[in-house]
Amino acid sequence: MNVFVTGGAGFIGSHTVVELLQAGHEVIVIDNFSNSKPEVLDRVRQITGKSAKLYEADLCDADAVEKIFSENKIDAVIHFAGLKAVGESVQKPLEYYHNNLLSTLVLCEAMRAHGCKKIVFSSSATVYGMHNTAPFTEDMPLSTTNPYGSTKLYIEGILSDLTVADPDWSVCLLRYFNPIGAHESGLIGESPNGIPNNLLPYVAQVAVGKLPHLNVFGDDYDTHDGTGVRDYIHVVDLALGHLNAIEYVADHKGVMPINLGTGKGSSVLDVVHAFEAACGKEIPYQIKPRRAGDIATCYADSSRAKELLGWEAKRDLADMCRDGWNFIRNNPNGL
Ligand code: UD1
Repeated sequence: MNVFVTGGAGFIGSHTVVELLQAGHEVIVIDNFSNSKPEVLDRVRQITGKSAKLYEADLCDADAVEKIFSENKIDAVIHFAGLKAVGESVQKPLEYYHNNLLSTLVLCEAMRAHGCKKIVFSSSATVYGMHNTAPFTEDMPLSTTNPYGSTKLYIEGILSDLTVADPDWSVCLLRYFNPIGAHESGLIGESPNGIPNNLLPYVAQVAVGKLPHLNVFGDDYDTHDGTGVRDYIHVVDLALGHLNAIEYVADHKGVMPINLGTGKGSSVLDVVHAFEAACGKEIPYQIKPRRAGDIATCYADSSRAKELLGWEAKRDLADMCRDGWNFIRNNPNGL
């Protein structure tokens, strides 16, 4: 298939482009490199021996997107592009709503104009909000606690409405749990700008000596060791889930939300200890107050992905830490 990947140079996007190319798909990428670098796609070429066709442009630019659809016969779209920092979204709600929603509208208008009606959307377990109890199933009530999460929920709604208006549309809403790790080659991985917000990039920077210690946000949750529990998933497993999702939208119509998680929860301290084993160093940490907006426990019911996509995560926390460490050790300043 000819697959158009928005945000294809990003963390999850680049790993998905690798798997698409290796599976024999043709890949067209749009990226404005606002949170990634063109070198990522050179690395993708090194891994696969193949190239994605790159358009450096902003997905909000309707003329640029129209040109891409005119120049390529696109069979299906995987939509990753978007701003994704939770804390920043609280400070800059208009930027988040403008960018994430407008880019999706521009994309869908171009798809409609060119008769391409198959899309896989990069959603998030953040849409399960604070009031559900894990394991999270796809039909639980949805809510959000910040503008970033709200953009994911609104885009799910926009895409669902399209399938009501025109039953020919096929939409798969992939709700990711906590993607970590890196490609086993050590060539691509996560390179956040500045001080990381998420656990794994922060731990990795402590391991390479760029940050003195980890702050553990709360040790008084109702979990096995008091620290927050999340469903960490290897980014390569996540990328492979997109291959199955592309096949699914090729064969089915309507809208389908699907969790991509392992179905297993690990605490902050479980992650710290697994990372220490992977890197052979101690990760110093200090217990701090809970972070606003965090829940105690979040993990997936992953049965729908198995049933509908024939997909399940294969890699465990030790694999995630080994590959994440391998990338950060080879690229201590990111890409
Ligand atoms: C966060 C976002 C979520 C988003 C996801 C994307 C929040 C509240 N949620 O999920 O909306 O979809 O990232 O990757 O930001 N932790 C520490 N110390 C740290 C960092 C994290 O103890 O320096 C703990 C957290 O309290 C949590 C766990 O580690 O228990 C995971 O945190 P994080 O990696 O930020 O992911 P989420 O909060 O699950």
